[in-house]
Amino acid sequence: MRNFLIAGNWKMNCGPAETRELLKGIKEQQGAMPDGVDGLVCPPAISLTAAADELQDITGIALGAQNVFYEDNGSFTGEVSTTMLNEVGCAYVILGHSERRQYFGESDTTVNAKVLKALDGGLRPVICVGESLKQRKADKQELNVRKQVQAALVDVEDGGATNLVIAYEPIWAIGTGESATPEQAQEMHEMIRSVLADLFDEDAADQVQIVYGGSMKPHNAEELLKQSDVDGGLIGGASLKADSFTDIIQIAE
Ligand code: G3H
Repeated sequence: MRNFLIAGNWKMNCGPAETRELLKGIKEQQGAMPDGVDGLVCPPAISLTAAADELQDITGIALGAQNVFYEDNGSFTGEVSTTMLNEVGCAYVILGHSERRQYFGESDTTVNAKVLKALDGGLRPVICVGESLKQRKADKQELNVRKQVQAALVDVEDGGATNLVIAYEPIWAIGTGESATPEQAQEMHEMIRSVLADLFDEDAADQVQIVYGGSMKPHNAEELLKQSDVDGGLIGGASLKADSFTDIIQIAE
């Protein structure tokens, strides 16, 4: 069966000093990750080296970036490459977060280019998909998310499927305190797994961790994580405090 993945997306929070402090707190409260639960933290790029250093003493928590560019090197001011992320110890990279789509012009096409580059560079992409409130009100959530998943995975070969993580993040639930209901999450995750089965095959689809993001907190994590196709969380606000992040890890255990 699939392990849970409990991932913290720190967004634009925690410089190197705060990163060390937060990870020390997580280490104190958690130590090693429990069996069956994979941990992941994704600090800002400037803090990755500090995080890699602290994570040496925490078994089972991997390091991820929040973005990567789809070229190898060159005149791309402000960007980082897969090689650079590998060099500082990243194993994962978040791609296509709705905040990047909204504020930085990320499109399905650039997300796809980055997914291919990440897989090629040995990084596991955490591909974010999710509908807006307007789309949900119009009952277009499945249509929209199906299209996002298909577009992100154009030209991904069968072998790449098992290195993918998909994060279902309804935009209306991000940072609002209003999470999707467990039933809404399960329905969307099940649909995403069926899209993966169509694109690859059932076996591959069964292996992909599909995590939920959007106001996951200690008080609602248990019900969300009980759903058969919810394989963890991509957690924003609650990952910025050692106690709430480790509480969710313990709920997943
Ligand atoms: O990537 C994480 C999500 O955007 C969720 O953020 O837990 O603060 O709602 P949140």
